[in-house]
Formats: sequence, structure tokens, C-alpha cells
Amino acid sequence: MTQDELKQAVAQAAADYVANNTPAGSIIGVGTGSTANFFIDALAAIKDRYKGAVASSEATRKRLEGHGIAVFDLNDIADIPVYVDGADEIDAGLNMIKGGGGALTREKIVAAVARTFVCICDASKLVDVMGSFPLPVEVIPMARAHVARELAKLGGTPVLREGFVTDNGNVILDVEGLSITDPKGLEARINQITGVVTNGLFAVRPANVLLLGTAEGVRTIT
Ligand code: A5P
Repeated sequence: MTQDELKQAVAQAAADYVANNTPAGSIIGVGTGSTANFFIDALAAIKDRYKGAVASSEATRKRLEGHGIAVFDLNDIADIPVYVDGADEIDAGLNMIKGGGGALTREKIVAAVARTFVCICDASKLVDVMGSFPLPVEVIPMARAHVARELAKLGGTPVLREGFVTDNGNVILDVEGLSITDPKGLEARINQITGVVTNGLFAVRPANVLLLGTAEGVRTIT
């Protein structure tokens, strides 16, 4: 199976999970990225079951609307039963690195509201220790150099994502060379640096369910 076929299989499994675990008329939280895009396409096939969705990025909002799925402002929604999104890396504790696509802050906000986070990814994303994938950190532009110096003190090498501006008008520093043995501690530590909006570690609020695409089929890990 190709990587895209694995992504498509987990996306369909997530659409089935959502159908089986949320009441009709629910509003679904929807992530960002190539795997989340396959999920949006699978969701479109059963869209009449749902009231609509909350999007974690402008790209996702556009794709949902393109399928005729209503997109709600998070401020108008009190309950999101399930949020479905991909990851760049995930460990056995279902801690993740996210933000390869730069949508980490909105993803983290929607995930914070959701009762259940379902992570969908292909088997290549499951690792013992996170950090091979550079950790994205969203930064207020005027704080870029200060935050980069502070991140270097933590042992990483921050690299500015050239030519990229987030949906929130900020920049991304991708931190290379980290070996993340304490994801929750590092998430909190980086978020304390003045000028950081948030970082791509999802450990304080990890996933609840992982649907992992493997050559043998989709594995469900909780
Ligand atoms: C977007 O900002 C990211 O968090 C994505 O969810 C993550 O990078 C996974 O993307 P892919 O499904 O494209 O690998």
C-alpha cells in the first residue's frame, strides 16, 4: 500500500469512528494536513448526519465548505464531541508533534475544546522518542530572535520557516535536534518563553485514540 492509501484507510476508519461515537446533529472538530484532507472527503459522504464542523485552519475551512459542510466559529460552540487530526510524530503515550503544516495553534485550541481527540496517521509517524521531526513553534514576529536564543538554550537548533506566515499572522521556528523524553515538561517550558504563541507538542492534551494505518490494516490504539 502507498502512504496515501494508508492515509485514506485511516481517514475512512475515522469517519466510521465518528459516525459510531457521536450523536446525529453533532459538530465535528476537523484538523489540518494531507491525512485530515482525506478525512474531510470521507466525512462529506455522510455530511447530512452532522450539523457541521469547526475548522483548525483556513485551508480546512475552505475544503469543508467546498464539500458543502457548514463551518462554525469556535466561539459559538460549547461542545465538540470529537476532533480528528493527523500528526507529524506520535509516541506510545499518544503525545504528538504537530504543526508541520503550520496550523498548530488553531489545532491546539480546537483540541482543547473537544472531548475526544482521534489521531489519524500512517505507521511511519509512530516513534519511540519524538524529536526527529523538527518541533514547530509559533512566534510573534517581533520576538523571533529572542525566542530563537531561548530555544537554543534548551538544546535545539531553531530554524525560521522561510516565507511562511500562519493563519494568525505569526512566524514559525522549527526546532531541530531535540530528543523529547519529557513531552509534557518541554511543552510547558517552551510555552513560557515570552513571545511564543504555542508549540507543536500535544502532550498536556494528548490524543485519546490513535487510528494507525499499517500494511496489515488499521490498528486502534488507546
Ligand atoms: C498541520 O499543522 C499539522 O499539525 C498536521 O496535522 C500534521 O502535520 C500532519 O500532516 P499530514 O497528515 O499531512 O502528515
